[in-house]
Amino acid sequence: MKTKLLLPHLSIMTENRSTVQNLAQQYIEADQPTAWFEVLYSQANNDEKLIPWADMKPNHNLVQWLDDHKIQTPGKTALVIGCGLGDDAEELSKRGFNVTAFDISPSAIEWCKQRFPDSSVNYQVADLLNPPSEWKQNFDFILESYTLQSLPPSLSNQAIDIIAKFLSAQGTLLIICRGRNPEDKLDKVPYPLTKNDVMKFVDIGLSLVDFEDYFDHLDSQPTRRFRITFTK
Ligand SMILES: C[S@@+](CC[C@H](N)C(=O)[O-])C[C@H]1O[C@@H](n2cnc3c(N)ncnc32)[C@H](O)[C@@H]1O
Repeated sequence: MKTKLLLPHLSIMTENRSTVQNLAQQYIEADQPTAWFEVLYSQANNDEKLIPWADMKPNHNLVQWLDDHKIQTPGKTALVIGCGLGDDAEELSKRGFNVTAFDISPSAIEWCKQRFPDSSVNYQVADLLNPPSEWKQNFDFILESYTLQSLPPSLSNQAIDIIAKFLSAQGTLLIICRGRNPEDKLDKVPYPLTKNDVMKFVDIGLSLVDFEDYFDHLDSQPTRRFRITFTK
């Protein structure tokens, strides 16, 4: 039977990040590793301050990549995985892609639709681990930012295999995630990825175009970031 675990004292949280980590941990230990996202979004009740990753603007690592690469967008399809509150999807749409963006949390998708009522983005509730079959080989550009790292490592191979299958011939996959060395210990979510983790995309047939490993200084503490470009 599925347990519904509650997010404690959400409205009076001072250390939101660690409260969210503890919430995630409870669900992961209860073998419901993706159920906590809906609990978090629904209980946040439209208060973005309670969503640790919600910057309410496009990810600067994505914006910089798009500015640097000048990729062709007219008539091209894009898929945003685990789109959260929609800012990256809107950015890709603004740049000319026909964007589908999905999240496992119905409350997150509802929030996107409220934030962007005139959007051309096709927002959908879907589970990356059980996606619609028509998405296979259907997207020219795929953005995965911070969703792989929010799944327990035991699910990452399955998720990687599914993401690679969404890409159409000559398509581009952009991954933005936290990075770590293999010897670095994993604690609670987020689970930074190793280079080997991400190279599984190559094992299953994609070609590596660029692997960037750098420190992102936007947060209060520098964060090690991987930004990786693959093509099919
Ligand atoms: C850490 S957040 C990142 C959100 C967004 N990509 C961003 O960069 O702000 C991870 C997102 O992935 C979604 N998610 C987690 N597991 C998922 C799954 N199996 N299928 C679809 N979305 C999922 C969560 O609901 C959450 O919005």
